[in-house]
Amino acid sequence: MSVVPYKDKEGSKREQVAEMFDNISPKYDLLNHLLSGGVDIYWRKRAIKLLRKQQPKKILDIASGTGDFAIEALSLKPEKIIGVDISEGMLAVGREKIKKLGKQDIITLQTGDSENLSFESNYFDAVIVSFGVRNFQNLLAGLTEMNRVMKPQGNCVVVEFSKPRSFPFKQLYNFYFKYILPLIGKTVSKDSSAYTYLPESVQAFPDREAFLDIFKKAGFINTKCIPLTFGICTIYIGQK
Ligand SMILES: C[S@@+](CC[C@H](N)C(=O)[O-])C[C@H]1O[C@@H](n2cnc3c(N)ncnc32)[C@H](O)[C@@H]1O
Repeated sequence: MSVVPYKDKEGSKREQVAEMFDNISPKYDLLNHLLSGGVDIYWRKRAIKLLRKQQPKKILDIASGTGDFAIEALSLKPEKIIGVDISEGMLAVGREKIKKLGKQDIITLQTGDSENLSFESNYFDAVIVSFGVRNFQNLLAGLTEMNRVMKPQGNCVVVEFSKPRSFPFKQLYNFYFKYILPLIGKTVSKDSSAYTYLPESVQAFPDREAFLDIFKKAGFINTKCIPLTFGICTIYIGQK
């Protein structure tokens, strides 16, 4: 059974995830930075730096949401970044941010499902995704599509929450993640399930070597994982 945001409601994981992100979109950025103490900004920066050598010109940002990873990717000076997401609410917030930055000519945000991308094969120089893969309905299908649309020798960078392993950080973090974070999340976002879904979905998600196994099945080679901040977050990188 996959973990879904609204256990008492009908609807596929994809539909529920889109509804949840639509609901929390006005408060998403605020809660992200508040609940992580701003460290999420560092995680995205660190991940984008891995693509510096490659200097990708055409980048696809999967599960782009409010566009923070796409905006971070501007530092690579690409010609074009396309962000796709299943939540129109998240994309609307992202479009406003990109407009304020005056970067609409470089970043385009559009509706799209990672499991069924509308792009031709071998098109992008790099494919990136931050905090998105955990929400996919079918992880292998989503990663396989990401591989399909990327050029051979291109790099794919994935950032996702993972489970810390070491005592006492693991215990302290689990307490915060299971009890404090859902309370703050619920109070600020007014969505009673979204920030309970977050720790539950992280718990159920295959991290580190287990993720790399699926990443490889999707066609990626030279794969590597880089745990960050006591293993709360992990960057995965793979080539086509
Ligand atoms: C936690 S947010 C991450 C947003 C952004 N990448 C960031 O780093 O802040 C997860 C996003 O994944 C999107 N998402 C989930 N499943 C998706 C799918 N199958 N295809 C495209 N987007 C998806 C959600 O709508 C949501 O906006």
